[in-house]
Amino acid sequence: MKQTDKYILGIESSCDETSCSIVKNGTEEIATVIVSQIDVHKNFGGVVPEIASRHHVKNITMVIEECLEKAKMSLQDIDAIAVTEGPGLIGSLLVGMEAAKTLSWVSGKPLIPVHHIAGHIYANNLVERLTFPLICLVVSGGHTELVYMDRDYSFQKLGGTLDDAVGECYDKVARVLEIDYPGGPLLDKLAGEGHPTYELPTPLNDDSYSFSFSGLKSAVINLHHKLEQKGEEIRKEDLACSFQEVVGNMITKKTIHALKEYQVDHLIVAGGVAANKGLRKKLQEACEKEGKTVTFPEMKYCTDNAAMIASAGYYAYLRGDVADLKCNSKSTLTLK
Ligand code: KG4
Ligand code: ZN
Repeated sequence: MKQTDKYILGIESSCDETSCSIVKNGTEEIATVIVSQIDVHKNFGGVVPEIASRHHVKNITMVIEECLEKAKMSLQDIDAIAVTEGPGLIGSLLVGMEAAKTLSWVSGKPLIPVHHIAGHIYANNLVERLTFPLICLVVSGGHTELVYMDRDYSFQKLGGTLDDAVGECYDKVARVLEIDYPGGPLLDKLAGEGHPTYELPTPLNDDSYSFSFSGLKSAVINLHHKLEQKGEEIRKEDLACSFQEVVGNMITKKTIHALKEYQVDHLIVAGGVAANKGLRKKLQEACEKEGKTVTFPEMKYCTDNAAMIASAGYYAYLRGDVADLKCNSKSTLTLK
């Protein structure tokens, strides 16, 4: 270990994943442990907040211990404790925050609160060191926005969704198509087996950086009901593919527009929907055509994990974003 190396221990518990990770100098993942509650919430068709927090309580100590063991490190080797401050489910966030505060208190290491979306953005820093300026397309269960960054840890929002987030829309459409939880990834898979034969409207098809998904969601629901009432066959894979096509085209068009207008050559993609195969392909092709480069997080780090929190936490630490033990979780929190 070099004296100048900094090891950040990150903790993430904002939704239904309990995770701990140790990252060196913001870029090098040493060890990560993720315990997912997908199987628990599957029975309910979605995340049940009260159940999620109870499972975080059950898992958090084990996850932290296992991560330190995997890294062959002790708390003494760690330079700072980073934790997701928000946004997210408040009961879930609190479990991670209390664990992080306790570790910070017993070890005397600084506590670094991290915005969950800053974490998602820095999942890309684990693939390749970010180069600036860049534009980040954030597509998750709670967010859909375009963010401009001219340096580390500086986030300028260019625009975002006016209603549902894209991941939320995926989950709702999946429910209508009677696709199991988690809807997003399974809908993506189904779309890969179909053709875009159904006509669906493209919402907010303009030059702004605003997105809208609720009208598209309603259009899929209405079409589904209409076909059902008429007793016509519903080709689920084609409907899924048609939906994915509209979403992918709309997001890609607005993202490329932002890259051009801000004269930025590098795009990064963040959040759970960054795992979407249709969207990846469209962004990749469009960027290639325009001479731009695009980076995606590793598939396993598109959805919630603590490696991204530890990476972002390193840059927050360099800025001196240290909190005291009065720091509290926040269910809503603006990225700035
Ligand atoms: O980033 P994430 O783990 O949680 C939030 O911070 O919101 O994202 C979860 C969201 C869910 O809505 C999930 O359905 C969606 O990401 N998702 C996908 C895919 N994988 C995850 N949506 C579409 N295609 C996927 N392959
Ligand atoms: Zn997330």
